Amino acid sequence: MIGANAMTTGERRTADHDDIAQNLRATLTQLRLWGLREVILFGSPRPDVLPSLDGEASASGGKTPPMPEETPKRHDAFVEASPPSDEPISRDERNRKASLLEDIRRDLGDCRRCPLHRGRTHVVFGEGDPAAPLVFVGEGPGADEDRLGRPFVGQAGQLLNKMIRAIGLHREKVYICNVVKCRPPGNRMPEPEEIRICSPFLIRQLEAIRPRVICTLGACASRTLLSTTAAISDLRRKIHVWRGIPLVATYHPAYLLRNSAKKADTWKDLLEVMALLHS
Ligand code: URA
Repeated sequence: MIGANAMTTGERRTADHDDIAQNLRATLTQLRLWGLREVILFGSPRPDVLPSLDGEASASGGKTPPMPEETPKRHDAFVEASPPSDEPISRDERNRKASLLEDIRRDLGDCRRCPLHRGRTHVVFGEGDPAAPLVFVGEGPGADEDRLGRPFVGQAGQLLNKMIRAIGLHREKVYICNVVKCRPPGNRMPEPEEIRICSPFLIRQLEAIRPRVICTLGACASRTLLSTTAAISDLRRKIHVWRGIPLVATYHPAYLLRNSAKKADTWKDLLEVMALLHS
């Protein structure tokens, strides 16, 4: 008997192809980060018209591309990539989004809607480009964030900055926020009731920005936006859709600081983010 979860040969082949395609994309992107600019296919008659790894016809006229002057340095598992092509966004559109975010911040005010306000120093609303193509969503402020009123400024934030640079962006060009805006005591997970009360502000932020991609960092943000209790390991490696926006779930940088071996998986998730930004 064939079990309900058994795959047909065709489905297995498609799954294998998906895996191969993802690994190939990961390898090519990594090679590009190390300076490779084109791939010569054996048997190709015209190396000068082969697509480069940037997706454009080769401009090198078939000559061997020059070696990069210096091999980029690696920052832990993450290195810097080239930025996605900038889609022009009008000043009016950016102003409109900025003003929506200001409205949300004003509505949040000196929030006392849930018990988290008792232990906080600052409300950590979020920061970044109101017209960002990419929004990162974390869990809630930690001690450094609570002290400074800014998201991801501690050790996890340093790693997040490296992850952002690895996909060719700068921190100021993305938007970073959290599910809850006040620090949970002792950095515990926010309670369901705290999430229920605070998440409407996150949802308004995401609706105001409507980025091209959302990347959730860790279980709390992923589960909140995807309305699930699934494990982060099951939510990764799929492209979800949140209100029409592609969403990629990955590990939280604080978890990566403790489990360095998971950086390789996170890199795969970031490649997915990068592919979505470039698509
Ligand atoms: N962890 C989070 O989830 N958010 C922050 O802002 C900092 C650490």
